[in-house]
Amino acid sequence: MVLPEFTHYQTPPKRTVLYKTFSLIADGFLFVGGASLAISLIWALLSTINPNPFEETITTTTQPSSNDVVHCSNSFSGVDPPELTFYDDPNLSYSIDRPIRNWDQKRKQWLKHHPNVAGSTDTRVLIVTGSQPGVCRHPSGDHLQLRLFKNKVDYARIHGHEIFYNNALLHPKMTGFWAKYPLVKSAMLAHPEAEWVWWVDSDAVFTDMEFKLPLEKYDNYNLVVHGWSHAVYDEKSWTGLNAGVFLIRNCQWSMELMEAWTRMGPQSPDYQKWGKTQKSLLKDKLYPESDDQAALIYLLLKENERWGKKIYLESEYNLEGYWLALVDKLDNITRRYMEIEQKVGDLRRRHAEKVSEYYGMVREEYLKDVVRRPFVIHFTGCEPCTGDHNPTYTWEACWNGMQKALNFADNQVLRRFGFVHPDLLDSSLVSPLPFDFPLV
Ligand SMILES: *[C@@H]1O[C@H](CO)[C@@H](O)[C@H](O)[C@H]1NC(C)=O
Ligand SMILES: *[C@@H]1O[C@H](CO)[C@@H](O)[C@H](O)[C@H]1NC(C)=O
Repeated sequence: MVLPEFTHYQTPPKRTVLYKTFSLIADGFLFVGGASLAISLIWALLSTINPNPFEETITTTTQPSSNDVVHCSNSFSGVDPPELTFYDDPNLSYSIDRPIRNWDQKRKQWLKHHPNVAGSTDTRVLIVTGSQPGVCRHPSGDHLQLRLFKNKVDYARIHGHEIFYNNALLHPKMTGFWAKYPLVKSAMLAHPEAEWVWWVDSDAVFTDMEFKLPLEKYDNYNLVVHGWSHAVYDEKSWTGLNAGVFLIRNCQWSMELMEAWTRMGPQSPDYQKWGKTQKSLLKDKLYPESDDQAALIYLLLKENERWGKKIYLESEYNLEGYWLALVDKLDNITRRYMEIEQKVGDLRRRHAEKVSEYYGMVREEYLKDVVRRPFVIHFTGCEPCTGDHNPTYTWEACWNGMQKALNFADNQVLRRFGFVHPDLLDSSLVSPLPFDFPLV
């Protein structure tokens, strides 16, 4: 039960009757039913054996009333059993500077001791995103960050994903686009129950709230990024893939990939050298400094044997899509979707937000011949927080593009709440939706 390397520095605390009963029942039981069913049964059983099994674990000055017991039973699934796990190893570091070994076994062992959270781990996705620690330099920056975050929270809630928003710099030297790697590593350690960590840049907007990640497709892969093989391997283009949105499996392979990836980061003594190497490999790379996107392409081109097989370049849908090519299409897409809804009564039916995925499935068969909503629109180069946008476009274009994308997405959410933004460029204005919209 306990990893040998942990045994010599700490003796496991005594296991209580509660824990023994819990693991005995849970081990055999959770394969049969869902966690909540198992827990309520365990609770029922424990209550008959011992009317107050929490006596040993909870110190309380007042006598628990029956209401307290009900309350306790709800938080029961949150009990952390005393068996030692990687969390108890003083040598295990969250820092990206210190590699982690045997993560798969460590994670597996933790899951074994937490059968109540271990169910259906294959599809557990933790969305991780974030922004800088300080105030945005552009006066609208913080407003935009808030709306961009709201959009991610909406998507996560609709699909039952958890989300972690971070605005602390976890490694002092890893700033900008490099800041996400220390964070992704920490997120993997903090959420061993998550099979995937889904990094989403703050300036990316979910614009199809119904779209579900096709996770089955990625069974044999550990990293999924938006990109095109020919652009990476034949053209050796810096824009052959985009590292602003990616899915990374919570496993040892990913820990090692991030070690190799961040070897080229600003915390490395070879940072300057890597910038030159990347620039000579990828002719269209914009900056002289080593960046994470170029670093990933470098690994695909130069260390393909080691990494290539487990990296999936997704181009069938917009895991992220470049905003300039997409925002102008949103009005026509809205019209197309409304035409479909005018014909299909099921799609007009009002419903609870909880069943959104079902209506997404219903809609699917009517989308075969139409331009779909882009899944994610990425405002690459707009820099909403600082306002230091790429000089090839204007701030106004960025601002309008973001309003459009955010309101387009919000309309899919607000509809379940009975309202709509009639004008995608006017965020303040909402109208109530009539019954059977958009038939009338
Ligand atoms: C922790 O690391 C130190 C130094 O590397 C080593 O001496 C010690 O045995 C390690 N402890 C464990 C529990 O692995
Ligand atoms: C929108 O659709 C109209 C009519 O089909 C077409 O003329 C127009 O070019 C489309 N606009 C864009 C931006 O695709």
